[in-house]
Amino acid sequence: MFVFFLVACSSGDSSSEEGGGSEDATTEDTETSTETEEAGEEPVTIVYARGVDTTGATQLVIDAFEEQNPNIKVDFREMPSDTGQSHDQYVTMFSSQSSEVDVFDADVIWPAEFAQANYALELDRFIQKDGVDMSKYFPGTVAAANFNGKQWAMPKFTDAGILYYRTDIVDTPPKTWDELIEMASSLKGEAGTEFGYLMQAAQYEGLITNAIEFIASYGGQVIDEENNVVVNSPETIKAIEKMKEIVGSDFVPENILNFKETETENAWIQGKSVFARNWPYLQASSNDEERSSIVGNVDITTLPTGDAGSAAALGGWMAMINRYSEYPEEAWEFVKFMTGEEGQKIIAVDGGRAPTIKALYDDPEVQQSGPLFSNPEFVKVLESAVPRPVTPIYPVISDIMQIELSKALTGDQTPEEAAANMQTKIEEAISE
Ligand code: GLC
Repeated sequence: MFVFFLVACSSGDSSSEEGGGSEDATTEDTETSTETEEAGEEPVTIVYARGVDTTGATQLVIDAFEEQNPNIKVDFREMPSDTGQSHDQYVTMFSSQSSEVDVFDADVIWPAEFAQANYALELDRFIQKDGVDMSKYFPGTVAAANFNGKQWAMPKFTDAGILYYRTDIVDTPPKTWDELIEMASSLKGEAGTEFGYLMQAAQYEGLITNAIEFIASYGGQVIDEENNVVVNSPETIKAIEKMKEIVGSDFVPENILNFKETETENAWIQGKSVFARNWPYLQASSNDEERSSIVGNVDITTLPTGDAGSAAALGGWMAMINRYSEYPEEAWEFVKFMTGEEGQKIIAVDGGRAPTIKALYDDPEVQQSGPLFSNPEFVKVLESAVPRPVTPIYPVISDIMQIELSKALTGDQTPEEAAANMQTKIEEAISE
């Protein structure tokens, strides 16, 4: 629905010059590491950063990689679970050309910005050297990591918003937002629940993904196919009104405006809610015998429909290499493993995350690990999820939306004002 706008702008030339320079540096590094191996010296240690992983799958991937690559050790550096906070820490690190992190997971909304800012290494020559077949990945996930004709990241897992419900309470899940509201309100309290619905309504990136789902389900858009800002529409206003109705209801936690994924996950696996909106990883948490009190009582369905249908926001993460890494070859080996079939399978089976490699959906172990993976309808949801605008100034657009939507949800402005302000401010940001 959203177009990939501003793709053609920017400094293609300067970035390819820089790329050339760093290739020289890389060749030297390769020689050094080969010598190291031959001389039987200490293995190289690379640092891999990603947000908090409550599922534990990250360590399993690292263990599997280290076993197959005894000359490379991977130190895991945990970043905040809030993508915006992680983003800001990476920007601080990379803008000072720090080499402290070699490989990092990038949110699907970052590659354009990070490519333009020269924070990441182009991966094309590695992909070619190792003959990695990019056609085995969902095309949208490959495209999201491509900017100015170069591949800056490898798709790792894809995300789409999903409705979770308790099978011990709900017979038939709701079809529309209004049905959800009705059921959340009447079923709250059953089987020891305190809430009817959980979502991400704090002022951060997750709010944007929830809002995009409401907006698209009512037929609205933020930016259209011709790159026009079209957010000030009756559809968006209706969507914001519906969000407001839900966050202001008595079936959500009182502090829903502080809820991010972590708060949602914690309350959900403690059995506190009838419904929840979250990403596919909650499948794994829900069925984790050690942490969850609702094992076996959870199923998933598509998010409710508005006037136009059901819409899931496209999320997901990909692996990038720091342009200033001192070990680009070793970093690539890890990226290749983690985003290849073996790595993605561990991340799907133990982490509940949706692979970006199509063939893994036919793998029996993957299929058995979560309801999402054995259901072809959901694979379609993943493929048709609604992306956020792809632009190097995405953080600016997101900040505008976060502020204006939050003000509408707290009642500091009307949904009409929020839509009008987003329109003017995003237009201004784009024309700057
Ligand atoms: C998930 C998505 C990511 C999104 C974030 C918002 O991690 O994969 O794309 O930005 O949630 O909180």
